[in-house]
This record gives sequence, C-alpha cells and structure tokens, in this order.
Amino acid sequence: MVRDKKFFWIPAFAGMTMLALLLPPVFAGELEPFKEVPIPAHNLQTPEKIELGKKLFFDRRLSGDGTMSCATCHDPEQAFTDGLDIALSYPTTKNWRNSPTLINVAFQKYLFHDGRTGTLEEQALFPMMSAFEMNQNLDFLEEEIKQVPEYAEAFNKIFNGEPTKERIGMVIASFERTLISGNSPLDRYLNGDKKALSEKARKGLGIFTRKGKCADCHFGVNLSDDRFYALSVPENPALLNDPRVISTMRFVAKVYKFKEYRTLKEDPGRYLITRNMFHWKEFKTPTLREISRTAPYMHNGVFNTLDEVIEFFNQGGGKGSTVLKPLGLSADEKKYLKAFLIEALTGDEIIIKYPELP
Ligand code: HEC
Ligand code: HEC
Repeated sequence: MVRDKKFFWIPAFAGMTMLALLLPPVFAGELEPFKEVPIPAHNLQTPEKIELGKKLFFDRRLSGDGTMSCATCHDPEQAFTDGLDIALSYPTTKNWRNSPTLINVAFQKYLFHDGRTGTLEEQALFPMMSAFEMNQNLDFLEEEIKQVPEYAEAFNKIFNGEPTKERIGMVIASFERTLISGNSPLDRYLNGDKKALSEKARKGLGIFTRKGKCADCHFGVNLSDDRFYALSVPENPALLNDPRVISTMRFVAKVYKFKEYRTLKEDPGRYLITRNMFHWKEFKTPTLREISRTAPYMHNGVFNTLDEVIEFFNQGGGKGSTVLKPLGLSADEKKYLKAFLIEALTGDEIIIKYPELP
C-alpha cells in the first residue's frame, strides 16, 4: 500500500501545498439556515447587560460633544445603517467609508471593512475614540458615566464594580448580539419549506450558488466566508475631491503608519492592517442578510442599487480585478438573482423599544 511508503508523502505533500498556493483563495460553500448566535464565554448574555448596552447604544454622552450615539450611524429605522454612501461623521469632519448594518454582526469573525478588530467588545471602543466619528476620550467617558447614578448602579449590579471602558464595550456587545435576522424565507426554504421562495427567487438561488458563483464567497449562515478580496470596486469620487474625506483617509493611513499617506488617493483596504502587498485594496465579504434594506453598497457606498451590484459582478468586477471573471448572465438571470436577494434574505423585523435614558 502506498500509505506504508513514507517517502511518497513528502513529494505528495509538497505537491499539494503548491497546488493550494496556485488555487485562488476561494472555496465554494453551502448555504445554511439560521442557527444559534455565538456567545463568547467571557461575556455571557444576561438581560441586565443587554438592557444597559442598549441604553449606552442610544446615549449621546458617548460622543465628545454629545451630538452622536451609535444609533446615529446605525439607525434601527434603516436596518442599522445610515442610508448614506459615506457614513455620517462628527461635526466639521467627514467619514470615508460606508456604515455597515449591525444586523447579524454577532456572526462575524472580523469587524470593519478591513477586518481590523475581531470582537464586538473591542470594536465598540473604536468609534468612540475616532476623531471623525464620536471623538470622545475614553478615560473621560468612564468618569462621566460614573456620575450618572442609574448607570453606576447598573454596572455595579452586573460587574460588582465601576463602569470602565472595557465593561462599556462588553455591555454594548451584548446588546449587538441581539440584533439578529432570522426566519427569512431562505431559512424556511433550507429547513424544508419548499414554498417559502417564489419560483423567481428559487431560480435566483440556483444562479447564486452555480452560474453566478456568489456562494463561492457568500455562504454559511451569514452568507459570508469571513475573507477579504480585491474586487476593484470603483473609488468613491469623494476620496479625490472632498478635502474632509481626503483628510480622514490620510489621517487613518498615518495612524496605521503608511509611509506615503501624504499622497494617498485611494482606500488601501486590508493592506493598512496587515502591510502585506497581497492585501492591497482587499475588503471583507459582507453579510447579504437584509441586503434589500442596506443600500448604498460596498465599503464606500458607490453602488446605489442591487442592479448595479449584480452588473458589477456580471462584468467580472472592476478594472483590473483578477479575483472575478465575467459571468455572462442574461437579463432574465439577473432578474432572478435580484429577486432572490430581495425576497429570500429579509428576516423577521427587529423590534426595538427605544430605552429611556438617564
Ligand atoms: C459617525 C458614524 C458612526 C458612529 C457614531 C458609529 N459607527 Fe459603527 N461604523 C461606522 C462606519 C463608517 C463603520 C465602518 C468603518 C470601517 O470599516 O472602517 C462602522 C463599523 C461598525 C461595526 C463593524 C461592522 C462590520 O460589519 O464590520 C460595528 C460592530 C459598529 N460599527 C458598531 C458601532 C457602535 C457600537 C457604535 C457606538 C459605540 C458605533 N458603531 C458608532 C460608522 C459609525
Ligand atoms: C470572490 C468573492 C466574492 C464573490 C464570488 C461574490 N462576492 Fe459579493 N462581495 C464580496 C466582497 C469582498 C464584497 C465587499 C466589497 C467592498 O466592500 O468593496 C462583496 C459585496 C457584495 C454586495 C454588497 C454588500 C453590501 O452590504 O455592501 C452584494 C449585494 C454582493 N456582494 C452580492 C454578490 C452576488 C449577487 C454575487 C454573485 C453574482 C457575489 N456577490 C459574488 C465578495 C464576493
């Protein structure tokens, strides 16, 4: 038997490794119905944490000048986005990327378009500190929150201690893990209810998983492979012509120690985080759940409609993209794909009772 011949394995292993290196970093995946939300052991869900996190999520004290809360840019009425191409920003500044939905964010392995954080606990502190988002000093915020008796008491009850920035991040994360899109027609279909999708949407699902190759990257329960790709999405023109956006872009690049930040004219994507040229302009595969409600699309909101996104993929991505190939979809096939995206991926509405803030 070949297995007994130890030396066979050395060239075979080397060959396999080579093959793995030559193959594009994509693997086709299957769609899965909604399952349980992953909860980290160090921050188990409790009703008290969720309630306190919700209050802080809506509380404008979290921003330096008291004008913005998390909900300003992640508005429950707009599927937890702000509906703009480039997100809202701290007064007098301008953001440079699109505000993603927080629905199903609990399933994500990496957060932000460039994946710069991995946990919701840690992530929550970034927008508070960011000069162009909430512009708050976290040590100051701790003291401010301690002075609100209702908050001090709630932290004490949950943590047996004072409000700290880490604990603020923890309770906000607990609230975010309740923002779930489940029971969508796709979930029901995958669970055996063949009537849950219209005929058009069923055809669209076929294109999504086969001819359109969408499920090569958008698969699993959250329709994302948690990877990063350079699809050559066109730049948002604001990166070239809006001085406030240009300042933000170059400021972020400088913070990430990008040497040529002074002349930067585009979003380097994942490269800023890893400093590996292979990651130049790569962005995270986003979830497609609730996609009909989260326009505009892509990390910079350059596409306003799903038709534009579908046409983009149909043409094999943007100029110079080597990841995608033209698909040759007919007008009908594009229609079915769109019907699938709109009909199949919208779950039960998330009903938020706005909290009363102290
Ligand atoms: C001024 C607008 C703004 C505010 C305020 C804001 N965000 Fe965001 N949020 C964004 C933008 C823009 C991104 C994407 C940034 C990037 O990828 O570089 C983002 C990304 C995120 C992500 C990652 C989502 C994903 O799919 O990767 C989470 C989670 C998040 N925000 C939560 C929060 C929380 C919690 C707060 C309040 C503490 C908050 N945000 C406040 C604009 C905002
Ligand atoms: C090679 C991996 C890959 C394939 C194949 C792929 N996508 Fe994507 N998709 C991505 C990435 C990465 C992004 C984010 C790009 C960005 O932010 O600039 C994205 C973004 C999207 C968006 C916008 C989501 C949002 O919230 O902004 C939609 C819609 C979408 N894809 C649908 C599709 C459809 C439909 C197909 C098949 C025709 C497809 N994708 C094929 C990786 C892929």
